[in-house]
Amino acid sequence: MPLQLIDNIADFRRWRAALDPKFSVGFVPTMGALHLGHISLIEAAKNQSDIVVCSIFVNPTQFTNPDDLLKYPRSLAKDQDLLVGAGAHVLFLPTASDMYGQEYMLKFDFGVLENTMEGEFRPGHFNGVALVVSKLFHLVKPHKAFFGQKDLQQVAVIKDLVNALSFEVEVLRCPTVRSEKGLALSSRNQRLSQKELEEASIIYQTQLRVISELKNGQLVEDAIENGIRFFRQTRNYNLEYLQVVYADTLLVYTNEETKKELAVCIAAPFGSVRLIDNVIFTLD
Ligand code: PAF
Repeated sequence: MPLQLIDNIADFRRWRAALDPKFSVGFVPTMGALHLGHISLIEAAKNQSDIVVCSIFVNPTQFTNPDDLLKYPRSLAKDQDLLVGAGAHVLFLPTASDMYGQEYMLKFDFGVLENTMEGEFRPGHFNGVALVVSKLFHLVKPHKAFFGQKDLQQVAVIKDLVNALSFEVEVLRCPTVRSEKGLALSSRNQRLSQKELEEASIIYQTQLRVISELKNGQLVEDAIENGIRFFRQTRNYNLEYLQVVYADTLLVYTNEETKKELAVCIAAPFGSVRLIDNVIFTLD
């Protein structure tokens, strides 16, 4: 089945209504500038669904920095080729005026999930994500939706959204895809210089170091302090946060014995690009 392009909500609704209910729908929402991380989500969706829908929509309501929205990479022709190669069935490309015909006042409150880490640096970001994902879920009516682990806080917010609003969709967190040097793939990496690209692997090295110290019995506050020192000594980049949290609730880990999944999370600007990453681990 060739890739079908649908560029407006009315046509998409018609397509969705006509789809035989015997087919399960897997959904990969994106903002385009696709890379192998997105393709791994398409592959996961293909393995677990009959029909794979991918959306590309650079969602204005989730950008707190207008310059970031302006500079967000766009590469539709290449994206389409990648989607054809990966075997996606439908590409939904709504326009901003179609998605947001009016000013939106709708406000979500995800408590700690939206106030910690990214929430502190990008106020309003998760409100915009929740708004657009709700709209997309209503239109696409997917059985399963696939999100990358790199945006761990986004996954937690979307799971909460799905529970709170009783969406009938299973949200799947899929593993981060990394470069050879360990840098988590991200559309924003395109805006890094060659030097920044190489140096940004310090993020992953720092995370592995923190995990190794914790596994060796170090207290979390010491492991974090050592991690921050390691990050700053190696390259003089700013570090916005380095935290160890529970991977599902994002509550801060404070040395208690646990078998639950933890995550070491980092945000750091490299030049004008803000990178985030996390690694999930357990202590047993
Ligand atoms: O992760 C992204 O690319 C975006 O936040 C999403 C989920 C497509 C919503 O705009």
